[in-house]
Amino acid sequence: MEFVEQLKSSVDIVRTIGEYVRLKKAGGSSRYTGLCPFHNEKTPSFSVNPIHQRFKCFGCGVGGDVIEFIMQIDRLTFFEALKLLAERNGIAMPKREYADADSRLRAALLEMHEMAAALFQSNLSGTGGADARAYLAGRGVPQEDLDTFALGLSDSGGQQLFRRIDQTRFPPEVLEQSGLVMKRQEGGGFYDRFRGRLMFPIHDHSGKTIAFGGRALRAGDEPKYLNSPETRLYHKTYVLYNLHRAKDAIRKLDYSILVEGYMDVIGVYSAGIRNVVASCGTALTNTQVRTLKQHSERIVVNFDPDAAGSNATEKYMQLLLDEGMTVRVLELDRNLDPDEYIKELGVDAYRARLEKAPSYFHWLADRARKKFDIHTVEGRIQGFKFVAPSIERVPDRLERFAIANDIAGYLGVDAHMVRDHFSRNQKAANRPASRGPVVPPNERLLLNSLLASELARMQVIPHLSEMSVIERFTTRNVFRAIFTLHHDQVSFRFSDLEGRLEDADRDLLSAVVFADDIIEEQDALAQAVACLESLRAQEPKSEMAELRARVQTAEREGNLEEALRLADELNRRSRR
Ligand code: CTP
Ligand code: MN
Repeated sequence: MEFVEQLKSSVDIVRTIGEYVRLKKAGGSSRYTGLCPFHNEKTPSFSVNPIHQRFKCFGCGVGGDVIEFIMQIDRLTFFEALKLLAERNGIAMPKREYADADSRLRAALLEMHEMAAALFQSNLSGTGGADARAYLAGRGVPQEDLDTFALGLSDSGGQQLFRRIDQTRFPPEVLEQSGLVMKRQEGGGFYDRFRGRLMFPIHDHSGKTIAFGGRALRAGDEPKYLNSPETRLYHKTYVLYNLHRAKDAIRKLDYSILVEGYMDVIGVYSAGIRNVVASCGTALTNTQVRTLKQHSERIVVNFDPDAAGSNATEKYMQLLLDEGMTVRVLELDRNLDPDEYIKELGVDAYRARLEKAPSYFHWLADRARKKFDIHTVEGRIQGFKFVAPSIERVPDRLERFAIANDIAGYLGVDAHMVRDHFSRNQKAANRPASRGPVVPPNERLLLNSLLASELARMQVIPHLSEMSVIERFTTRNVFRAIFTLHHDQVSFRFSDLEGRLEDADRDLLSAVVFADDIIEEQDALAQAVACLESLRAQEPKSEMAELRARVQTAEREGNLEEALRLADELNRRSRR
């Protein structure tokens, strides 16, 4: 496992995780914090410690090293995570080790998707692609967008891709799992899934082709869109179309735009608005929302006009709110989807609409204004009640009240009514996230200084391991493990220490390592010695205190013999 250690030590964990999570340096500490990408939260409990090269979320409990982070966030195998980190950091992988069957399957599928994308692209630019090119030109998609989005065309014969794929390298069971070709019901053999369709490659966030959407070119061809099935590469519920191109802009502008279709993304993006994504022909899922949230908490949802106000839309908005997103709604008029709107009215008109897009609650209130007679008190109250259930679901209490007051003002409803309504509906109040176990400060400091310096361990552990106060520590098992490691070996590795601990003790260790103590290596010895001294001062006293407590317990339990014996002992000691 030498390579793994070498890789971990040459990868900057803060930079790596920073690609996925917006990290801020925690004040006065070497740690970085941010919103956990693995669960939904409003206040950051996710923490990265560059000294120990670990991450940890005190909300949901996930934690580990940089490889484990990549495995979890990108849903990769150990080998794939290694490979990805090595590639991104320009480190050569040793050839022999690591490849397991699953990684080999994924690698084969990726290669097949590469081949397919290239083939589709060359079809579109070749002689057979004239009609498709004309169709795209007719829809106002310029040549450069064909390249940007790597659009392609699948051959209508149903054999081209299958023949192109090297049968000797990809056995039938792998072909079947690619989703690109399908097995014939009778007679054996395969045929292409996509035939005579305009092909939209779908990428993962790092830009690898993992699936396709295929649009019919002739009116009446059903279905209009045919998409790749779920494969080992493609999990629809995780993927957002165009995310790898949009994510930098989403961060920079601090919001994303969610549209419905591939063509909408292409229309909006190529008009120069880059922070746009779509879900790929499925209802939006919470994993997709969390992915977006890693880049920005703010989102503008651009519905197709007929969708606004439908049940599906309602669910969809609720999902965004439940994940703690700040949502605005862009509803285009004249029954146009974003792509059509930009083509007809121009990008400036679209941009203006985008900038003016109301918050979800104001948008709902506007709908309430249309639904109820806002000129009467009754109507205003009904209007507010129409919006209130959504406001109640805002997780953050202060924000909930602020929004409620704002919307009440907007609808002309008395603030008293708002307060009444919300005090009767307290069930939505949210509980603060657990911050993990608490370790007493002296134990924390001592542990952190021991972890920070070999010298501190050498000097202090021999004394420390003799002392009985350790047994009363919350973190006694962590100390024991450090003593054992120190005793057994010269080089001291954090991962070895973790490996010796049960879950509960590992959580304690995390709490220690992610506390805000900054102990530089050169100060660690002095700090450890100071801790040792103060423990020494405590030690006899605390032993006496314990004896005293045991006397009291024995008395309370009516065990007088034991109480007397302990009291004797106590006397003897206090005379010493
Ligand atoms: N979709 C799908 N299967 C269908 C229809 C639609 O997967 N049978 C998905 C596609 O991702 C599509 C999106 O839903 O992009 C939106 O559908 P629609 O508005 O019909 O398509 P547009 O992207 O607007 O395409 P076009 O403008 O070419 O009609
Ligand atoms: Mn459209």
